[in-house]
Amino acid sequence: MGLPQDVWPLMFELTNSVLGAGDPEYQAEVPEEIRGSGEAERQTSMSGEMRMLGYFAEILAQRRKEPKDDLISILLEADVDGERLTEQDILAFCFLIILAGNETTRNAISGGLVTLCEHPEERARLQADMSLIDGAVEEILRWTSPLHHMSRVATEDVEVRGTKIASGDRVFMWYPSANRDEDIFPDPYRFDITRTPNDHLAFGIGEHFCLGAGFARKEMRVMFEELFRRFPDIQVAGPPERLRSNFINGIKHLPVTFTPAR
Ligand code: HEM
Repeated sequence: MGLPQDVWPLMFELTNSVLGAGDPEYQAEVPEEIRGSGEAERQTSMSGEMRMLGYFAEILAQRRKEPKDDLISILLEADVDGERLTEQDILAFCFLIILAGNETTRNAISGGLVTLCEHPEERARLQADMSLIDGAVEEILRWTSPLHHMSRVATEDVEVRGTKIASGDRVFMWYPSANRDEDIFPDPYRFDITRTPNDHLAFGIGEHFCLGAGFARKEMRVMFEELFRRFPDIQVAGPPERLRSNFINGIKHLPVTFTPAR
């Protein structure tokens, strides 16, 4: 997006406060006595959203004056069917990209490291032959399902495997469950970096299929290639501290040990 590196920590903080709003660790801005409550979650997420939109509003103003070779400048010039995007469209898109791109991919990477450490044979296979990385990334996505769910509203009556869903019902699509569907994945509780086919739904399906899937796959691949090249003996050294959320399969803190590369 062309954001200067010195604001990356701010983006990390704000995405934590928007999507990790239900976790007391990220509720520092609300009075201590209400931390952990639904009200604390609402206030935390609202404040994160306002700060994020405020930040992007400033960046938009700067890019209007002085365009750069970045996504935000492109969006300012873009049109859809001859119509310019509104300021609100662009702000909402920046907000979505930052949240969707960051909270998911980094948790897929830390979740992947935990999973590989919990399955030392699969990890050894990968480290012995890093050409297996693409399959490993797909299996990590299936296994960790970094987003727990999205939801939809049914537009007509339908029956899915014996369950009636009425038009207007809100439906939650639980990705970890779909990704362990015995009818699709033989032996679904086995972590297998060479699983083929691997038609997981970690990136959703259909019209709203993840816009950043290719980018996320690449980030994960490069991260594991580099991590194992530089720190081949990296190990998880304690229980991961998980995010309190039913939306993001997040890891907040993960102690690891490794021998530093010389
Ligand atoms: C491992 C990483 C990622 C996972 C697991 C993931 C997961 C998902 C899922 C499940 C959806 C479907 C939403 C739905 O059906 O309503 C989605 C949509 C989306 N993702 Fe990702 N995502 C990841 C990385 C990224 C990255 C890196 C970006 C951008 C840089 C991104 C941008 C988006 C956007 C913009 C949408 C909305 C697409 C639409 O509604 O048409 N995601 N993602």
